[in-house]
Amino acid sequence: MSLPVEETAPVPLSALLRERTRAAHGEANSEQFIEELLSGGLSRAAHADLSAQLLPVYEALEEASAALGDDDRGAGLVFTELARVPALERDLAFLYGPAWRDEIRILPATHAYADHIREVGGSLPHYAAHSYTRYLGDLSGGQIVKRMMKQHYGLEEEGVAFYTFPDIPKVKVFKDAYRDALDQLDLDDDEVTATLDETLLAFTLNRAVFTELAEIHC
Ligand code: HEM
Repeated sequence: MSLPVEETAPVPLSALLRERTRAAHGEANSEQFIEELLSGGLSRAAHADLSAQLLPVYEALEEASAALGDDDRGAGLVFTELARVPALERDLAFLYGPAWRDEIRILPATHAYADHIREVGGSLPHYAAHSYTRYLGDLSGGQIVKRMMKQHYGLEEEGVAFYTFPDIPKVKVFKDAYRDALDQLDLDDDEVTATLDETLLAFTLNRAVFTELAEIHC
């Protein structure tokens, strides 16, 4: 009779993601543009410009969400309450005025980020990486950003609607459910590796946008 092989439980994807992106996260939030924006050293125009850069990124991400909503393996990670495009459009109309579509200027790094999401977003590991990086970030650090934008740049709800999730009454509860959904994804080992690699790339793509914003605003 052979003895049972002792197996260690696999580390959940959400824990792997948090661990593997710890350093990249620290680097992203110590980018000059982010540090100066959060400490009140920039202007409302800098906040507006960041909001403008987020629009193409979320358009691409939410197109991918819509496509994956019908996918057997992907549907569990698609949450309609996360959708950010309508709130961003309202913010931009407030920050730039009614002709905002002609006023905003999309930076090369933003085009590269959005194009990349369009290229890979149909693949579940890649979608998971981009969804995790942005939405869990918005529900976490994004809440700090919102407070700082209001405090430093004289904004009320208008102009920072992007950071408010009206259909998510308890952020902590939702974040736990989102992490559960990540952990339930039916991914093989190669796909888990692809998710982790792509998440690091997502952080790099975000930093590239912050670098270009710093060249303009800092
Ligand atoms: C703007 C400055 C930032 C601040 C102050 C900040 C702050 C935070 C904080 C406090 C948490 C932990 C929340 C918790 O324990 O539930 C967090 C988590 C997170 N942040 Fe940031 N963050 C910032 C920028 C970013 C950026 C630029 C990204 C990526 C684009 C990002 C992505 C994330 C992600 C994915 C998580 C979830 C980590 C996990 O629990 O797996 N953050 N952030």
